[in-house]
Amino acid sequence: MVNRHIQAVGLDIGTGKIRCVIGEPSESGQMNIVGLGEAESRGLRRGIVSTTDAVADSIKRAVEEAEQVSGLEIQMATVNVSGEHLQGENKGGVVAVAGAGREITEEDVERAIESASAMPLPAGWEIIDRLPQEFIIDGQDGITEPVGMRGARLESRVHVVISPSAGKQNIEKAVNRAGLDVDGMVLEPLAAAASTLSEDDKEYGCALINIGSELTSLMIFGRGAVQHTRVFPFGGMHFTKDIALGLRVSIPEANVIKHDYGCVAPFLFRENEGQEVIEITPVGRNETRGLSKEILCDIMAPRAIELLQHLALEINRTGAQNSSGVVLTGGGSQVRGMVEIAEQIFDAPTRLGFVDSSLVSGLAAEVRRPEWATACGLALISMRRQVREAMAGPTTATQKVAAWLENFRGKFR
Ligand SMILES: Nc1ncnc2c1ncn2[C@@H]1O[C@H](COP(=O)(O)OP(=O)(O)OP(=O)(O)O)[C@@H](O)[C@H]1O
Ligand SMILES: [Mg+2]
Repeated sequence: MVNRHIQAVGLDIGTGKIRCVIGEPSESGQMNIVGLGEAESRGLRRGIVSTTDAVADSIKRAVEEAEQVSGLEIQMATVNVSGEHLQGENKGGVVAVAGAGREITEEDVERAIESASAMPLPAGWEIIDRLPQEFIIDGQDGITEPVGMRGARLESRVHVVISPSAGKQNIEKAVNRAGLDVDGMVLEPLAAAASTLSEDDKEYGCALINIGSELTSLMIFGRGAVQHTRVFPFGGMHFTKDIALGLRVSIPEANVIKHDYGCVAPFLFRENEGQEVIEITPVGRNETRGLSKEILCDIMAPRAIELLQHLALEINRTGAQNSSGVVLTGGGSQVRGMVEIAEQIFDAPTRLGFVDSSLVSGLAAEVRRPEWATACGLALISMRRQVREAMAGPTTATQKVAAWLENFRGKFR
């Protein structure tokens, strides 16, 4: 089989959960999901490693589960980069086209991107990603693939994302300690977008919001490219803490209450549902106490509104056009009523971001939840990169292989 050597592994290292997806390219161009695993995460704080060994252990558990499901052994994974300090900036650069006949080469494009991202960085910071938005050739803008075109002056517009280097290095160390190599690192919201947004969403404008456990990341797309990135230090864990404090229950119990009965939009209650009573056990007590769903909602709703208002403010500040609305991913987006409240606050169509079923096959049903968006996106990005490399490489000798790869050309740009 042609695709035997292509094994795409997405490893989503989150503060609450670690998730691993193993995929293989299929003849149809989809990613065939052959393995997945999930483990409670230990040793991370807001996406940053605080205890390497604990993170490595959690990674091992998630990876082992995915290996068991797939019957495969994996050596490498593409992992997410996150952290509240990530910063995105839009930059511009310009170079003279050097070659004969003024035909733009890949080197010219690379130089134009370099020129845009030449910027002073704070000590200990690095460029995490450089995402081209558009190129301008002799004043003509809106060009996405300038290679092969003619011109004298090549300008670039690039979304440059920077972050302290330590975060990335420590994640890599933990992955290595779990016995794996890192074959790529991708911004968490970019990965989530890869599995949930359509080309139209990215073209006409869309805000992707990934609500995790302790981090919420926002990435705004428009004209087919990333226009804005921002990470906030809040997420689903804040609801759990509010419940624990408000009801004097333990964090694990608060979490169960949140998952089983939590709601942030009282107007979704069926008749009399608000008065339904939940039994809770306050810390240090033996007897249970009754709590109405309405009161639980009163505790959770203000937090949801606060969280979403921060995001709305940021989106409005950028002045972005979000014709395709807002897409919510991550476990925190699954709180009952979150989408409905978000729709009101953003005043824009809002939906949960499910892994696009046209992109995946195999164990696809298992990942059709917004908290799997990042892990699937990481695997998809890894697979596309490997397929592209295989297409460019000298090993694609036989016609059969070439034809097979041709299938992917459109799909894996
Ligand atoms: N059905 C649900 N109802 C309410 N909250 C939920 C539900 N499912 C998941 N969550 C919450 O989502 C959060 C976890 O989301 P996710 O798994 O995306 O985070 P993570 O990737 O581990 O963390 P981070 O990205 O912040 O590092 C937790 O706070 C969890 O309680
Ligand atoms: Mg996450």
